[in-house]
Amino acid sequence: MTGSYPNTRLRRTRASGWSRSLHRETLITPADLIWPLFVTEGSGVEDPIGSLPGVSRWSVDGIVARAKEAVELGIPVVALFPNTQPDRRTDDGAEAHNPDNLMCRAIRAIKDACGDDIGVLTDVALDPYTSHGQDGLLDDKGYVTNDDTVAVLVDQAINQAEAGADIIAPSDMMDGRIRAIRMALEMGSHHNVQIMSYAAKYASAFYGPFREAVGSGGLLKGDKKSYQMDPANSDEALREVEFDLAEGADSVMVKPGLAYLDIARRVKDAFGVPVFAYQVSGEYAMIEAAAAAGAGDRDALVLETLLAFKRAGCSGVLTYHAPVAARLMLG
Ligand code: PBG
Repeated sequence: MTGSYPNTRLRRTRASGWSRSLHRETLITPADLIWPLFVTEGSGVEDPIGSLPGVSRWSVDGIVARAKEAVELGIPVVALFPNTQPDRRTDDGAEAHNPDNLMCRAIRAIKDACGDDIGVLTDVALDPYTSHGQDGLLDDKGYVTNDDTVAVLVDQAINQAEAGADIIAPSDMMDGRIRAIRMALEMGSHHNVQIMSYAAKYASAFYGPFREAVGSGGLLKGDKKSYQMDPANSDEALREVEFDLAEGADSVMVKPGLAYLDIARRVKDAFGVPVFAYQVSGEYAMIEAAAAAGAGDRDALVLETLLAFKRAGCSGVLTYHAPVAARLMLG
């Protein structure tokens, strides 16, 4: 104990705004945010996503405009997810390593327009490209194979790096993919392309709106429990992180966010590495729905939940609220 009542009154330092500012332990700024964006074909297209009110799919020109907006707001990174045309989705997800796919066109357009004013993070997993909506390749029993999938993910990652991606973010949860991707990046002279591993990614019920956004939801049969983690497990998350760091990840991610803050804190305490959290689509939708129902003030809910990630030890947060939150932070 460092004091006792009434010599110490903990309310003393809370009594005025200036004092609360002085004693605040955690700060969140726009520089802590990563803005996930959905890319669609065409030009001049803004296609609102029903289950994510306020979030749209944008054609490449619109994505460039969003990237410029991010720069203005001080958001350092955008994360890209493609809504691949249905006729380009196949069993083997080959569109993932087409150098002219939607993702690569968006990366090049952002880099041409913004250069190093912004980082581009790209998702590595096959679900936006497969006709079955799984993140990997299926064997004849419908099981998602590991090693064959990793080989395709390497091609996908190199394809993104060649297009100019700054951070490769594998979200597939295959074993051994970080080492394979890191080796391929090194051999391809992409020494400074980072890997942010979705290291502790859970088989969660919070991904529904995302699957609508990339168009994989209707295609997906079954679930992703044979590769994404069991929400009951925490020690296992540390093993996942340990493996990914040993294999060459520069930073790690915990996903989803709010329901897994304990995991973020454990990872930070155990490894002392940069940890990021993904406040996923279902979390965004919950906040918007709560606000629309009059159950809370939207802006306050946004800022409070984002601050919680920093308090839990995260270096930053992927959030669809990024532009809204940045504007609130900038006042
Ligand atoms: C796909 C991927 C998913 C998300 C990011 N990358 C969905 C999934 O695993 O099914 C979810 C993000 C969100 O819900 O906002 N590999």
